[in-house]
Amino acid sequence: MKNYIKHHPWQIVEEGFDAHLNRISESLFSLGNGRMGQRANFEEKFSGDTHQGTYVAGVYYPDKTRVGWWKNGYPEYFAKVLNAPSWTSIGIKIGKHELDLATCKVSDFKRTLDMKRGLLHRSFIATLPDGKKVQVDAQRFCSMADGEVGAIRYAITPINFSASAAITLSVDADVVNKDSNYDEKFWNEVSKEAKAGLALVTAETKKTFFHVATAITYSIQVAGKVVKGKVKITKREKYADNVVTISLKKGMETVIYKYAAVLSSENHPKKKLAESAKKKLKAAAEKGFQKLLDAHVAVWANIWLKCDISIEGDVAAQQGIRFNIFQLMQTYTGDDARLNIGPKGFTGEKYGGSTYWDTEAYCLPFYLGTSDPKVARNLLVYRYKHLQRAIENAGKLGFTNGAALYPMVTMNGEECHNEWEITFEEIHRNGAIAFAIFDYIRYTGDEDYLIEYGLEVLIGISRFWSQRITFSTEKQQYVMLGVTGPNEYENNVNNNWYTSYIACWTLEYTQHALEYVRKKDTAKVTKLLAKIKFNESVETARWKDIRTKMYLGEDKQRGIYLQQDGFLDKELLTVKDLRKEDRPLNQKWSWDRILRSCFIKQADVLQGLYLFDDRFDDETIKRNFDFYEPMTVHESSLSPCVHVILASRIGYKEKAYEMYLRTSRLDLDDYNNDTEDGCHITSMAGTWMSVIKGFGGMRVKDGMVHFSPYLPDQWKSYSFRVDFRGRVLRVNVMRQKAEVQLESGEPMEIVLNGAKVQLS
Ligand code: BGC
Repeated sequence: MKNYIKHHPWQIVEEGFDAHLNRISESLFSLGNGRMGQRANFEEKFSGDTHQGTYVAGVYYPDKTRVGWWKNGYPEYFAKVLNAPSWTSIGIKIGKHELDLATCKVSDFKRTLDMKRGLLHRSFIATLPDGKKVQVDAQRFCSMADGEVGAIRYAITPINFSASAAITLSVDADVVNKDSNYDEKFWNEVSKEAKAGLALVTAETKKTFFHVATAITYSIQVAGKVVKGKVKITKREKYADNVVTISLKKGMETVIYKYAAVLSSENHPKKKLAESAKKKLKAAAEKGFQKLLDAHVAVWANIWLKCDISIEGDVAAQQGIRFNIFQLMQTYTGDDARLNIGPKGFTGEKYGGSTYWDTEAYCLPFYLGTSDPKVARNLLVYRYKHLQRAIENAGKLGFTNGAALYPMVTMNGEECHNEWEITFEEIHRNGAIAFAIFDYIRYTGDEDYLIEYGLEVLIGISRFWSQRITFSTEKQQYVMLGVTGPNEYENNVNNNWYTSYIACWTLEYTQHALEYVRKKDTAKVTKLLAKIKFNESVETARWKDIRTKMYLGEDKQRGIYLQQDGFLDKELLTVKDLRKEDRPLNQKWSWDRILRSCFIKQADVLQGLYLFDDRFDDETIKRNFDFYEPMTVHESSLSPCVHVILASRIGYKEKAYEMYLRTSRLDLDDYNNDTEDGCHITSMAGTWMSVIKGFGGMRVKDGMVHFSPYLPDQWKSYSFRVDFRGRVLRVNVMRQKAEVQLESGEPMEIVLNGAKVQLS
């Protein structure tokens, strides 16, 4: 745990330069715009410890799988988000010395991320080895108004000297991934161009053949007047630059504006990519830094207008929640159904930038509550487009007849994960994908989604469950053997309650969807069922049989659901019994010991009670919470938020707040000692849910919004906005009362603390 980020309601602030914290700060101060992004690597050279990261959405590399023992059904590759050609660097050489914070004396260092405006700002004074002192003030953003444009304003002022300086403005595609199974470089050069005022490299990924054209231009100015320096051009393999020699005058600020256009073949024809990049670059440079920034800030202003959460009386909590919202909004903008949300977004390489069940179980509610419905819809359509691959994936494991098993980890629909206990067994992800369809429709009312896309996905998933669930003659009930539930600290267990429950629920919901689509569009359903060769009477009869005879483990005496058949045979300890030195278990204990222990990585039975909370009463939730939470180590960042929501529902306010603190500043305070790898983007959506569904008690039932808010003791008040069916609602929660205002949209009725309220 660290505590070096200064508290501020709208900014992330680091004061003073500590090279040991650099990788953490590089993650925290990352920028993105849904299309591209990068870690907060310095513009000038840095020879100290750094993790260089520039990312272009949708561009990945299928890195050949590396496993000790091959098992049939394993995927051939693990897809990796690529460290892409870098456009942010501005090298500064004064005399013999390069400006490099690892070799200079640094003072007055301050880095801020202005979340209101989406602007990264850094300033410092550096003393070069020969005593020359320079002051630097750098600003950078990835435009939210045009996802292919980035801009930097880099101002440098000599404090105690005048001298000439060589400024290197480059594009560098000769980059590596930290995470590369065979230490390969993943890019080849397609073409490059460099002339005064331009450097452009078009690079191609090996195997996947994505092209990315990265073009930069610049303008160097003193007192608003353009300075024309002497330009030297360097071109080498995958690299192009302009080195501009200018004179720096003591006390005079020289401003370098660097503009970049980053275009990928996902959005432009390959043949025209370089030309299109140049066009885009020219237009951006003509607008200039300030106009580009104004347009970018206007987009952010709109975003905050719809989804800000403000907290009175706790600046740390305020900063935490805004940071979570900011990161989510700059990771995924929802205008492209081919894209998704990697657990680290644009902040690092870990988890390969791939899609996990995190999207459906955690991120979807966030985008439903904060954005236009088409954003969440695109997340669903993403899975629809992968349906064939999910069917092939199930086929590889021996399933037939159109059964679909969505991958645990994917870029393009193919499975990328290769630990058998997760790849083959953590199949609850299929349930989350089905549930997301229901969740989207419940929130938006767009039931016709079932007609176009939803039903087909649901049938594929139900067919999988129907084959994966088997009949136990011994029990005279259906069972689900050999699975891994959300708690990855138990593998190959039988009858994981959560997985079995969500499977049965899917069968029930698919039946509903079938009936709905039949009523609304008989022709469509007939065509679809013929296409997928659906033997309705036989298949749905089995679904019904499963639903009525499914074994769902329960301990009646304790009044709890059984995480799995053998759970009660374990030594039932609590986290309090663990020594400090034992934590985190996944770093301190052998895997064998973890698997046999009762300790739970993340919500499992409780995950089910959270998703289906309208089916369970408070007492049932309490009993299960009291039993499982004390054994839960929350070693997945996805865990605490579920506990906030359930604890809030059953009135465990202190527990809810304790869990909230764990989720909201997880990265800012480097709670798990791993922020240097990148931020936990998907769990940030959980933090948002903690406030809205936890403290705010928001639920949608039968097309109506319900709130049952309470105020954590530590806060004076809080308010949040949600987007619901074309309206923006603002909920203000104070010590004595809570109120809901309609900020925009048609009048509507809501339910506040159980009573209907008309809003106009
Ligand atoms: C969690 C998974 C999650 C993954 C990516 C793992 O630690 O156990 O549930 O999908 O991280 O966030």
